[in-house]
Amino acid sequence: MTRLMVRGVEIRKGVLDGAAQARLIEALRPVLKAAPLFSPVTASGKAMSVRMTSAGELGWVSDKRGYRYQPMHPRGSAWPAIPDPILAIWHEVTGHDRAPDCCLINYYGEGAKMGLHQDRDEADFSWPVVSVSLGDDALFRIGDTMRGGKTESVWLSSGDVVVMGGPARLVYHGIDRIRFGSSRLLPKGGRINLTLRVAV
Ligand code: SIN
Ligand code: FE2
Repeated sequence: MTRLMVRGVEIRKGVLDGAAQARLIEALRPVLKAAPLFSPVTASGKAMSVRMTSAGELGWVSDKRGYRYQPMHPRGSAWPAIPDPILAIWHEVTGHDRAPDCCLINYYGEGAKMGLHQDRDEADFSWPVVSVSLGDDALFRIGDTMRGGKTESVWLSSGDVVVMGGPARLVYHGIDRIRFGSSRLLPKGGRINLTLRVAV
């Protein structure tokens, strides 16, 4: 495993080997069955190119009413529990006993991306944000804690783990593009990003 620091964000390359990645995909299968991916729209009504769902006590949703954490999938059911192998990554990486409230599951198909944003819907920014990349490579852009600052980009690969914490907890970040088909982890291609957060 190698560790990079980019603008205060810790990027741990190769945390999960191929077998561990495959186990996570297996663990996600029943989660995606119970809480299917949906296409969120922003408050302005624009469709996001990423499809998403969540596991945990709370899930993150965006619709015409805005974005927020809520205890239900848009179709009304409680979110499934966060699978143990995903919780294990959080505990290992953060060293905290407290479990995250939310595991946001983002799916990037061909052409999907995510604009620069801050993760700031959580109550307490002293908790880090941990994110896990699975599947296709993605170009991750990291900026400043203020909009409009200089940015740096780094390719994330399957099995990499990103930690945004401390002074880098509120940096702007986004995914410019993925290299569709660069990984064979997901049978239909694409990328899954798991974002673990303490929300309340
Ligand atoms: C996000 O910031 O919500 C997603 C980041 C990623 O896909 O790596
Ligand atoms: Fe984010």
